[in-house]
Amino acid sequence: MEYETPQFFRVMQYASAAERDVVDMVSGSPDWDPPESIRTGLAEYAQANASEFQYPPSVGLDALREEIAARRGLQRKRVMITNGAGEANHLAMTEGLATFSGSRILLVDPVYPYYAGRASMLAAEVDYVAADDAGYVDPEAVRERASEATSVIVINSPNNPLGVTYGRKRKRELAGIAEEHDALLVCDEVYDHFDYSGRFESALAIDSPNVVVTNAFSKSLAITGWRVGYAVFPDPAEQGDLLSNARTRHMLTNVTCSRPPQAAVLYALSNTSPTYYERTRKLLRERIEQFTTALDRAGADYTKPEGGFYVMARFPGFPGTFENVEQLIDEAGVAGMPGEAFGDARADWFRFALVTSRVEAAVERLAAFFE
Ligand SMILES: Cc1ncc(COP(=O)(O)O)c(C=O)c1O
Repeated sequence: MEYETPQFFRVMQYASAAERDVVDMVSGSPDWDPPESIRTGLAEYAQANASEFQYPPSVGLDALREEIAARRGLQRKRVMITNGAGEANHLAMTEGLATFSGSRILLVDPVYPYYAGRASMLAAEVDYVAADDAGYVDPEAVRERASEATSVIVINSPNNPLGVTYGRKRKRELAGIAEEHDALLVCDEVYDHFDYSGRFESALAIDSPNVVVTNAFSKSLAITGWRVGYAVFPDPAEQGDLLSNARTRHMLTNVTCSRPPQAAVLYALSNTSPTYYERTRKLLRERIEQFTTALDRAGADYTKPEGGFYVMARFPGFPGTFENVEQLIDEAGVAGMPGEAFGDARADWFRFALVTSRVEAAVERLAAFFE
């Protein structure tokens, strides 16, 4: 897959220049409210002592690392705060290439485009393994594709764009393949709070020194603009000190992460009821039902998410190319992403993000367009 600048900018620009009203189903920015607790946390922070307005440690606020570690049953020394899951993925992939043998990155097709873009930026060759028809990655296919040249394997569950959730066995097998080839398995779990299957289990449950888990509060607390994420590195006693290397890289690029959002996230973690997350899941399940029922009526093939908030759909005789995305914007008033932006495996599909309160309008417009 050739990688250029992030393709969703191109679609968003086209949609915003359109002369008609367009339902935006392009990017993954939540349209629902964050929990009230995060506003309180930020407001309280504004009154803190001046000393708390200064540089936090490069690896993040101790108390936030401690809280994450306690919730995940880990030692704090393994947790590093990052600028969202994006930076956590960057540090993990970069450290993987620098520390493990080999120089190639193995990705699943369809791929979250930033993994592909990062691989290209890091001048690493990529091997793609196509997801199977149900949307999962088959560990046997990964085993066939992986080699001594593989340095990093990246997976994402719950998955963007396919909506599948991998169970523990699949992750264990993938970690085993990483161990066999002296590679690093990066598990991006940024959608962990959006599992509808009940099957999601963090890769942290897998006892492997070759696994890094990345995550963020961007989606779970609906704060994509706040940039608070984290990476959990292997125990340095079992694997070189990846976290220290990542900290140096992070420090030389960012110095550190911003303090106020870290403080507010820390407050929100202890002051947000589980019903907040349940309500969001319920809202998304309703949207998924509504949208996929309409796709059924339009005679489309589609993925029904077990997790996350993206639906892929394929319409007979209307492949998911950029041109057709533009036609959908102009003639139907619905903006999605072209499947070709995610690789070859589902190039003829579209991806729709269900982060709009106007799913019903989108459904009606698509039904009218495909009638
Ligand atoms: C799979 C995946 N990983 C990472 C990110 C980026 O997360 P963050 O905003 O926390 O950097 C996204 C955002 O859409 C995503 O879909």
